[in-house]
Amino acid sequence: MTTNAVIQMKDIDIHEEVREHYAKHATSLLEGRAEQACCDSACTCGYPATEINALPEDVAQASWGCGDPVSLAALKPGQRVLDLGSGGGLDCLLSAQRVGESGWVIGVDMTPQMLSLAWRNAAKVGLRNVEFRYGHIEHLPVESDSIDVILSNCVINLSPDKPAVFREAYRVLRAGGKFAVSDVVSDGDIPTAALADLDSLAGCVSGAMKESDYLDAIKAAGFEDVRVVDRGQHTQVPGSNVQAYSARVEAFKR
Ligand SMILES: C[S@@+](CC[C@H](N)C(=O)[O-])C[C@H]1O[C@@H](n2cnc3c(N)ncnc32)[C@H](O)[C@@H]1O
Repeated sequence: MTTNAVIQMKDIDIHEEVREHYAKHATSLLEGRAEQACCDSACTCGYPATEINALPEDVAQASWGCGDPVSLAALKPGQRVLDLGSGGGLDCLLSAQRVGESGWVIGVDMTPQMLSLAWRNAAKVGLRNVEFRYGHIEHLPVESDSIDVILSNCVINLSPDKPAVFREAYRVLRAGGKFAVSDVVSDGDIPTAALADLDSLAGCVSGAMKESDYLDAIKAAGFEDVRVVDRGQHTQVPGSNVQAYSARVEAFKR
C-alpha cells in the first residue's frame, strides 16, 4: 500500500469515528433525551446570556463548542455567513438573528443527524434565513468568493487535513471577508500514541494542532492579519505533557 493510500484510509477512519460520536449526541436530543448541556441558563459557554436564555432550552443545549465565535465575528445586517461544522445549529441561529432577513447563513456538517437537529432547531426558533448543507469542510459545498464571514466552533481540530480546511475557507470567502473561529489548539506536538486515541480525538483533544503551526497553516492558505484573540480552558492530552486549550482566532482575506 502506498503512503497516500495509508493516509487516505486514516482520514476516512477519522471522519467515520467523529461522525459516529456526534451522531449519538444529536440523536439524544432528537429523541428528547437530555444531553450534557454546554449552554444553559447557568453556563452560557461565553455567549451573551440574554441571547442564550431567549432560546428554547433544548435548542441552547445543542452546543458542543469551545467558545463564542459569533461575538468575535462582529456580524452586520445583510452579511452572508458560513459555519464550518455547524452541529445542532446554535452558532448559525445566533448569526441569523444578527444578520437579519437581508442576510443569509449556511451551516455545513458531515453528520446527517446533526443536520436534522439543526433544521429542527431553526424551525423551532422560526428562522428562515438559514440553511444546512451536507458536506465535508475539506471540500466545501459552497461557491467561491461568496461568503462575508466564516465561523467555526470546535471543529477544525477534528479534521485530518486542516490545511485543506483553511484553503477551502479562503476559496469561498470574498475579498475583505473575515475568518473567525473558536477551536482547540495545543502548546506542543501531539505524540503519535495520543493521535491514535480516537475517543480523545473525537472529544476535541488529541486532534489539536500546535498553535504556531495552526496560525502558519492559516497564513499559508493566503489569509492575512492572523492572530489569536484570546485563549481559554486547558486540558492535558492523555499520555503526554502537552496541553490542549481553546483559542479564538481571526484572519482576513484581503
Ligand atoms: C464538537 S462538534 C461542534 C458542533 C458545533 N460547531 C457547536 O459548536 O456546537 C463538531 C461538529 O463538526 C462536525 N464535523 C467534524 N468534522 C467534520 C468535517 N471534516 N466536515 C464536516 N463536519 C465535520 C461534526 O459532525 C459535529 O457536528
